[in-house]
Amino acid sequence: MKENIRVMIPEEQVDARIQEIAEQINKSYEGRQIHMIGVLKGGVFFMCELAKRIRVPVSLDFMSVSSYGDDTKSSGVVRIVKDLDQPLEGKDVLVVEDIIDSGRTLSYLLQIIRDRNPASVQLCTLLDKPSRRVVDVKVDYTCFEIPDEFVVGYGLDYAQRYRNLPYIGVVEFSEE
Ligand code: IMP
Ligand code: MG
Repeated sequence: MKENIRVMIPEEQVDARIQEIAEQINKSYEGRQIHMIGVLKGGVFFMCELAKRIRVPVSLDFMSVSSYGDDTKSSGVVRIVKDLDQPLEGKDVLVVEDIIDSGRTLSYLLQIIRDRNPASVQLCTLLDKPSRRVVDVKVDYTCFEIPDEFVVGYGLDYAQRYRNLPYIGVVEFSEE
């Protein structure tokens, strides 16, 4: 099987949209400081590009979670593989995600975060597949809504590869 990547959203379009979302965030956090939480590893590329465009003070922390369940379906029961370094008490938290699919992982994560008494919690995602949603999550900032296709690039992987692509693509398979 040969793998080929079809471009779904080109680099210039992704970058331009991140700029727009960053402007919205700059406005709504005016006079405050943002504590960004990146979800490893997929959320990292988007988080860096977003953070570079934010003009209010920003601090960063990271969390890594793994979902119990089979390879194709997340169960919603999440194990924390790497926890945050800093407490969240009183902070204005912005969770930065690569993609929201069923919503299971994220709703569990948001519950863990809210239990730590931040001043506020908002959610920002690069991609959203609304047609796949099983658990309702309130998304505050979405760069792109996409159809139900498996995408890679800009942090997203297929078998740990393609995270470094500077655009959003779809993996296609062909014989030979
Ligand atoms: P869920 O919302 O709990 O179903 O899981 C979301 C996670 O599944 C994301 O953080 C990604 O790691 C992964 N995921 C979902 N859809 C895709 C995709 O199209 N490409 C790559 N990873 C995906
Ligand atoms: Mg993720």
